[in-house]
Amino acid sequence: MDTRVKKIREAAAFIKENIGGKTPEVGIILGSGLGKLGDAIEAEAVIPYAKIPNFAKSTAIGHKGNFIFGKLAGKYVCAMQGRFHFYEGYAMDQVTLPVRVMAALGIKTLFVSNAAGGLNQSFSVGDLMIIRDHINLMPNPLIGPNLDAFGERFPDMTAAYDLDLIARAEKIAKKAKIPVRKGVYLGNTGPSYETPAEVRYYISIGADAVGMSTVPEVLVARHCGIPVFGMSVITNVSNTDNASTVLNDGDDVVRAADAAADRMCAIFQKLIETI
Ligand code: HPA
Repeated sequence: MDTRVKKIREAAAFIKENIGGKTPEVGIILGSGLGKLGDAIEAEAVIPYAKIPNFAKSTAIGHKGNFIFGKLAGKYVCAMQGRFHFYEGYAMDQVTLPVRVMAALGIKTLFVSNAAGGLNQSFSVGDLMIIRDHINLMPNPLIGPNLDAFGERFPDMTAAYDLDLIARAEKIAKKAKIPVRKGVYLGNTGPSYETPAEVRYYISIGADAVGMSTVPEVLVARHCGIPVFGMSVITNVSNTDNASTVLNDGDDVVRAADAAADRMCAIFQKLIETI
């Protein structure tokens, strides 16, 4: 057996044993802005990544490292409190291992969130953006021998972000009077923020927001055939001009994400109710 499949199955078997053999219906990656959604889960089991066989440790600021299993919006969910970023030095197999483990556990839909820099010049700090597509500028996590047990060699990415979930989220936001944007997320490795020249380039190729996560996890989920819904909280506005005096800063990003948390969580919670 492929050693990657063995690692996925070992991790999934360990978790299954710790959740009484249950099958989570929904997977959630609680990125920036969604941390509070973790508090809304009626937790039945909290499993630190450090205890799960083959998992790496999460080191990024504002991120914890646990799987939370429990009830949310009437569904038995599996939520990642903290994720692994490529910029931390993990291989893409490690970054995306939890998604494949959630797939092995049986999730039917994946929800993701992140903090992102606004590229679209009409965006402001605190805006919420439904991700309608992405541009991948990171190494593709599907490179290497294909994991046939999970999906096909050349997975289609035409509707990487589920169109029906997007439409439902827009309706929910409208009804709750929560303004939302919709746009293209560009995934970059980081950890450095973008230069103004890169920002102008990313705008020119059609990106609305830029961040350092999400794309690898979405590629792997789509490889497994799992529908995905994602949102970004715009935590800073990327500079197009070297003379700008507002510099990008990790603490500001965490603060802006926290400020948007209630709006973001409300949309996710209502959306999860509908599936
Ligand atoms: N660039 C990349 N990643 C980010 C940013 C940004 O401006 N803000 C939050 N995450």
